[in-house]
Amino acid sequence: MKLSLILISAVGVHASLRERDFGQAHNHKKYVKRQDVVPFPPVLDTNEQLLVNSFDNATIATWEYYYSHGAHLAGTNKTQAQWTADRWAEFGFTSSLAEYYVFLDYPIGQSLRLDYSNGTSHDASLEEEVLAVDDTTSYPNRIPVFNGYSFSGNATAEYVYVGRGQEVDFVRLEELGVELEGKIALTKYGGPFRGLKVKNAQNHGMIGAIIFTDPDGDGNITEANGYKAYPDGPARNPTSVQRGTVEFLSTYAGDPTTPGYPSKFDSPRSDRFVVTPHIPSIPISWLDAQPILQALDGHGFTGEEVNRTGWVGAIGNVTYSTGPAPGTTLFLENELEEKYTYIWNAIGIINGTNEDEVVIVGNHRDAWIVGGAGDPNSGSAVIVELSKAFGKLLATGWKPARTIILASWDGEEYGTVGSTEWVEEYVPWLTEAAVTNINVDIATSGPYPYIDATPDLHAIATTIMKKIIYPVKGVTNRTFYDVWYDFNDGEFGVLGSGSDFATFLHKGISAIDFGAGGGPEDPIWHYHSNFDSYHWMSTLGDPGFVTHKSIGQFLALLLYHLVNDDVLPLNPADYTPALEEYFSDLNDTVISANSTVDLTELSDAIATFKNYSSQFEQLRAFAISSSDSDLIKVTNTKAKDFSRGFVSQGGLPEREFYQHLIFAPGIDTGYAPVTFPAVTEAVEAGDLELAQKWVGKTAKAVLVAADILKT
Ligand SMILES: *[C@@H]1O[C@H](CO)[C@@H](O)[C@H](O)[C@H]1NC(C)=O
Ligand SMILES: *[C@@H]1O[C@H](CO)[C@@H](O)[C@H](O)[C@H]1NC(C)=O
Ligand SMILES: *[C@@H]1O[C@H](CO)[C@@H](O)[C@H](O)[C@H]1NC(C)=O
Ligand SMILES: *[C@@H]1O[C@H](CO)[C@@H](O)[C@H](O)[C@H]1NC(C)=O
Ligand SMILES: *[C@@H]1O[C@H](CO)[C@@H](O)[C@H](O)[C@H]1NC(C)=O
Ligand SMILES: *[C@@H]1O[C@H](CO)[C@@H](O)[C@H](O)[C@H]1NC(C)=O
Ligand SMILES: *[C@@H]1O[C@H](CO)[C@@H](O)[C@H](O)[C@H]1NC(C)=O
Ligand SMILES: *[C@@H]1O[C@H](CO)[C@@H](O)[C@H](O)[C@H]1NC(C)=O
Ligand SMILES: *[C@@H]1O[C@H](CO)[C@@H](O)[C@H](O)[C@H]1NC(C)=O
Ligand SMILES: *[C@@H]1O[C@H](CO)[C@@H](O)[C@H](O)[C@H]1NC(C)=O
Ligand SMILES: *[C@@H]1O[C@H](CO)[C@@H](O)[C@H](O)[C@H]1NC(C)=O
Ligand SMILES: *[C@@H]1O[C@H](CO)[C@@H](O)[C@H](O)[C@H]1NC(C)=O
Ligand SMILES: [Zn+2]
Repeated sequence: MKLSLILISAVGVHASLRERDFGQAHNHKKYVKRQDVVPFPPVLDTNEQLLVNSFDNATIATWEYYYSHGAHLAGTNKTQAQWTADRWAEFGFTSSLAEYYVFLDYPIGQSLRLDYSNGTSHDASLEEEVLAVDDTTSYPNRIPVFNGYSFSGNATAEYVYVGRGQEVDFVRLEELGVELEGKIALTKYGGPFRGLKVKNAQNHGMIGAIIFTDPDGDGNITEANGYKAYPDGPARNPTSVQRGTVEFLSTYAGDPTTPGYPSKFDSPRSDRFVVTPHIPSIPISWLDAQPILQALDGHGFTGEEVNRTGWVGAIGNVTYSTGPAPGTTLFLENELEEKYTYIWNAIGIINGTNEDEVVIVGNHRDAWIVGGAGDPNSGSAVIVELSKAFGKLLATGWKPARTIILASWDGEEYGTVGSTEWVEEYVPWLTEAAVTNINVDIATSGPYPYIDATPDLHAIATTIMKKIIYPVKGVTNRTFYDVWYDFNDGEFGVLGSGSDFATFLHKGISAIDFGAGGGPEDPIWHYHSNFDSYHWMSTLGDPGFVTHKSIGQFLALLLYHLVNDDVLPLNPADYTPALEEYFSDLNDTVISANSTVDLTELSDAIATFKNYSSQFEQLRAFAISSSDSDLIKVTNTKAKDFSRGFVSQGGLPEREFYQHLIFAPGIDTGYAPVTFPAVTEAVEAGDLELAQKWVGKTAKAVLVAADILKT
């Protein structure tokens, strides 16, 4: 089955801070040629067999049940951190907690009132439905709807509907003469990362923001199309709310008060408002948004007149008009407890026999809700099961050549805080020793697998996919590779941001992020809502936990080969076709912008990279064929180190955190990736001088990487 771009983007958008979005164009690159015949069943060696057979859907479900039955907002549940470390310890990992002292904010008082011009009022409920069949929706300590790192304060004013809140939406409103200054922004999910919606509103003089879920993100699985809503069917429960952080994620990730260094008790603190908003915001359901939108009907310009992509959604009986409606106002209350507090990463280690190489397998543990069955605890459950499988392998006397680190990050949801502070603490050692960061944020939110990875991991990921049986919708005789290939059209995703791999990637460490999500015909996953619960997962998301199991088996064999194989299974030469494709995209961008920037230096650098990486491949083939273990060690070191060349110490323009010059989240998208980001964004902004400067810097980075591979 070949799939449309729309379908690919449906699975392409999945990392934890991200949202499901059918409308979003996605980078789509194809490097893998379909092999028509993949052996079935796959042939495995003894160790592979042992690992794969250790995965048990029932125990995975037990771990997930534990995690998704207790509040575990960042910094609030040390018991879960210790429980995780204890499980890993039972299975043979040396485990401990790594704590950081970070800035966080917690909800105290959230309310929203619509005051009509005739003096009557309507209160938004700000409550998700309590369901008898879904136990965690009624927990008394369930977490209110709010935005992490939002501004604590109130706002009252007339309001304007601003579409998806992209900069171009605001430009269009200004063009139409709609007054923004001093008003509250009403904005829908979709398009840019939520924190950028608030940032853009703030930059246009607005004093608050309300972000609503629109059912247009649900494709055809809607009540309007006759599907029943959760818990009675696969459609969205209309009361569902997407919580989430509003940190300015495309500029910075981590504790906003400690940019570039770890958050310890006595660390100096800097001004967080550089990367967090100074206007209040809250998220609401579409049901709460409907009357607020309706009150704008007949005022300002209709959605049709505005004529912007994604402006008109699927809420019934509203025209998605801009407003403002004179005299009709919102009162937004957003009171938060702001504090410095501890968060806890659980860390589990098995030392490798070769002491200077390490593979980090991570997933976050914190969730916006009591449940969090999909995001993130499907990943957490799979990693506990992974530790059990490796425990069995260790019991046979096997030892890894490279060190394994398991990490259960805290504070991811506020802006990858736990992983960022940990990487910032250990950056000299990680730069030296880290081979790869494997991230499994959301192992399962639907049946279809996706993989985003740096190109040097494409080959090993492909090999492993062919070793795993992947049952989907009752078809049990296909491999992971078959299912992945058909659903993703053989394309690996490009890493953007929005989960814990980002801090590793931007230190030049190879990274992979994978999991499984729903296609256009699958049940709606309620991202960051109370309905991302164990009940949803076990009845609709993954009945029988079969997808969890296959994702876990893939993780196990990927990790096994990365830590076990004499020849480190990273393929630097696979960056060459990727760089060439990104270059061709950049060339197109330059041409369509009528820019006169000269890209020769970059194309020359890519040619050199191609040359040196193919020489590297020849050297490695020779080392293997002559069984020269010293030479194999030399090539392993090069394969680990070359990607450090792609980072620039000062980072991208205006965003020091993002240092990888080949890919980064788009400054105006917040999670979707942009390739050759510094050059591409300067060209798009029409800044020729900056673009030319970054052609030079990017070319140099490619040459540094090439030089490390030079034989
Ligand atoms: C922490 O999580 C565990 C397991 O989910 C739960 O039993 C416990 O009640 C939670 N603790 C708090 C303080 O919410
Ligand atoms: C005030 O206006 C709202 C919105 O148009 C309407 O629903 C409500 O019935 C009005 N109330 C009175 C008392 O006129
Ligand atoms: C915000 O509004 C609430 C409810 O009216 C009020 O109790 C609180 O004092 C207000 N906060 C600020 C900072 O004005
Ligand atoms: C919804 O259904 C229509 C009609 O079957 C189809 O053309 C369209 O592609 C579907 N949309 C999605 C997002 O699946
Ligand atoms: C909407 O905008 C597109 C281009 O952005 C234009 O082609 C089209 O005519 C516009 N439609 C209306 C109704 O103005
Ligand atoms: C739209 O309004 C009509 C008439 O008031 C009503 O019957 C219908 O249920 C409304 N539809 C939605 C989606 O609210
Ligand atoms: C693992 O190696 C480190 C560094 O060599 C050492 O400090 C640590 O004690 C070792 N841990 C175990 C469990 O052997
Ligand atoms: C898988 O099983 C189906 C029947 O369930 C059969 O039609 C198909 O040929 C099988 N495919 C392979 C590769 O064995
Ligand atoms: C695990 O799989 C078996 C066999 O398919 C099934 O009977 C069982 O219900 C599954 N367990 C869970 C917890 O889903
Ligand atoms: C750049 O794009 C132009 C126009 O599509 C094409 O003629 C040219 O070959 C491209 N150059 C490179 C190096 O891809
Ligand atoms: C590029 O130039 C063409 C022809 O002069 C013009 O039609 C087009 O609008 C220009 N594009 C941009 C982005 O300036
Ligand atoms: C490739 O590398 C070799 C050896 O360093 C060098 O002699 C040759 O000129 C290079 N070719 C290109 C196209 O860079
Ligand atoms: Zn997550």
